[in-house]
Amino acid sequence: MSDAPEPSDGAILTARDVWVGVQVGKIIKPIVQGGRITVPQGGILGLVGESGSGKTQFVRALMGLSSLEPGVFSGSAIYKIGDQPAVNVLDEVELYTPFRAPEGDELFPQRMRIGWAWPLWRRRFRKRLDLLRRLGVGFIFQNPNGALNPFLTVGTQLKEAVLVARPKANGKEAEEGALHWLDQVHLKPDQHTLGLYPHELSGGMAQRVMIALALAGEPKFIVADEPTTGLDSHIRLEIVGLLNRIMGQGALSGIVISHDLPMVARLCDRLTVMYRGRVVEEGPIAALGDPDSDSHPYTRELKERAEALARGRQGHTKGGVKKTGGTGVVVGKGCIYRSRCAIYRDGLVDKELCNTVQPPMNTIAERHKIACHSEDIASALNESVGLLAAAGQSNG
Ligand SMILES: Nc1ncnc2c1ncn2[C@@H]1O[C@H](COP(=O)(O)OP(=O)(O)OP(=O)(O)O)[C@@H](O)[C@H]1O
Ligand code: SF4
Ligand SMILES: [Mg+2]
Repeated sequence: MSDAPEPSDGAILTARDVWVGVQVGKIIKPIVQGGRITVPQGGILGLVGESGSGKTQFVRALMGLSSLEPGVFSGSAIYKIGDQPAVNVLDEVELYTPFRAPEGDELFPQRMRIGWAWPLWRRRFRKRLDLLRRLGVGFIFQNPNGALNPFLTVGTQLKEAVLVARPKANGKEAEEGALHWLDQVHLKPDQHTLGLYPHELSGGMAQRVMIALALAGEPKFIVADEPTTGLDSHIRLEIVGLLNRIMGQGALSGIVISHDLPMVARLCDRLTVMYRGRVVEEGPIAALGDPDSDSHPYTRELKERAEALARGRQGHTKGGVKKTGGTGVVVGKGCIYRSRCAIYRDGLVDKELCNTVQPPMNTIAERHKIACHSEDIASALNESVGLLAAAGQSNG
């Protein structure tokens, strides 16, 4: 039973203890384990982590777009948009699903009762989400082709989006709005572009149409999932510039999911790091792997990888940093990062604790939390031999 969670002060989205699972045979594999996120009003949060760490499934659950079964089965996600009352889209989810999050030594979600109120939950969930959409929540998907309706022209889809924000607009005004948003995403604002169908668009054009569609609804809160993946570097820069311009105006809050740390650093003011289904760090973007401040060893590893990749590019070497194996979600006792952790490998922490207890999110500074047992992470990391070496040695 939900005990009326509260939004964080000044936050547009506060999500806590979110569990998302998928049925695999007789068990429910947890894909997001106790996920948490706080997006301040007017803030842009970067959600990073390697492929398969659960970023997409986490935010899809927060936006009611999860297509997994059972999908989200526990937690809270409170949106507080403008003067509108707060909406917890996951309110009472526990009453509808028969599963609960693992406790104590349990590794997997437990079935609590027979019965399955899933259709009822979905209906209820959808009602709240319709409300969210009316309040102004938008989504830029990871895959533009899956997000655009193949049977409708760009113009029809854009005009529909404009009408969501301005229901009283007439046909001419909706078209003017559509042309305006085409121009904003650097597509030719003319009848020809309005008349194109999704299959007639190149990858970069489809991506930009999708961004225009999300923005035309004039959202107050937007989630952009890998908005530049698959684009060439010229278009990527253009799109980052566009997002930076629109998000920098301060009226829009949101989450940017990306592997591209330099882009995240440019667009975002806060950071949440996920590793194999769990959030391991949340804090200000300035602390992103800063060697002088505490940062989760995995965040430091990500930063070192990005820097090594950038050096590789500068030196025209091919391929950048070798990617270590072992991506995806992991279920088990103790710290899930220990097989790659330099502090653990070098014995600079109580290994028994790391082996047996999943570290909680400890507050290390104002609005900065890290899931790690080490009491002085910065010193321990600086003392250890090297993060990439540790990650490369064991791909657990
Ligand atoms: N439909 C599905 N059925 C079963 N497992 C799934 C399904 N979709 C995703 N998963 C699993 O959920 C985990 C998290 O996937 P998710 O797509 O959220 O990762 P991600 O962090 O967004 O990765 P990427 O950076 O590649 O987009 C992965 O281990 C994936 O295998
Ligand atoms: S809890 Fe232990 S293994 Fe995990 S990141 Fe911290 S030091 Fe490394
Ligand atoms: Mg993803």
